[in-house]
Amino acid sequence: MYDKGKILIGLGIGVLILLFPFLYSVGKAAKAPEPVLTEKAKTAKECVEPLAFIKARHMELLDRWRQEVVREDIRYYKSSNGKTYYKSLQVTCMECHSNKSKFCDQCHNYMGVSPFCWDCHIAPKENG
Ligand code: HEC
Ligand code: HEC
Ligand code: HEC
Repeated sequence: MYDKGKILIGLGIGVLILLFPFLYSVGKAAKAPEPVLTEKAKTAKECVEPLAFIKARHMELLDRWRQEVVREDIRYYKSSNGKTYYKSLQVTCMECHSNKSKFCDQCHNYMGVSPFCWDCHIAPKENG
């Protein structure tokens, strides 16, 4: 024998429990940090790939660079903008984004990611 009323109430409570994290955070979500560009990056105007790509897929690009440098000894990257870049986390990315804590870290902290790269790669020196 089924008790329709009880099943419906049960379902309702279940759905509320599932939705709770979303309902709870409405209006409370912290504002996403705005990545701050260095003077050098501002002068360069563009990243090694278009913003939409680099924003969503920089980790894949870095993985590819690492693979190609370490395993295949291919050190130069031809970007879709026609420019050639030296494939290096420290020398290329971090030269332009030398404000790691305000740029990379702030966004990673917000998104809850902590790349382990800096266990070995040297992070740029930052003033202040
Ligand atoms: C020549 C300077 C330069 C180099 C080298 C460079 N970037 Fe950028 N990067 C920029 C600029 C300028 C922007 C902002 C682009 C824009 O607003 O269109 C940017 C944007 C980004 C963003 C997006 C930030 C946002 O607004 O959400 C990420 C992530 C990023 N870069 C990571 C990297 C990584 C990883 C590398 C190395 C693979 C790298 N960059 C190399 C200049 C550079
Ligand atoms: C606009 C936000 C933003 C900025 C700015 C940013 N990242 Fe990221 N990064 C992310 C997100 C989100 C992920 C996780 C993506 C995923 O897990 O698929 C990530 C992942 C990574 C990873 C892979 C980590 C892992 O454990 O898989 C690396 C490496 C990385 N970022 C390097 C950098 C570097 C270097 C910079 C600065 C030059 C930078 N990121 C700037 C958002 C950002
Ligand atoms: C256990 C130490 C270690 C860790 C952790 C590590 N790397 Fe590396 N990585 C190396 C070594 C060693 C090389 C080879 C350096 C060379 O030949 O120029 C290298 C080379 C690279 C290169 C190509 C050369 C260069 O100068 O950048 C990239 C890109 C790179 N790693 C990205 C990453 C990223 C992204 C992470 C984090 C997700 C990471 N690595 C974590 C040790 C490490």
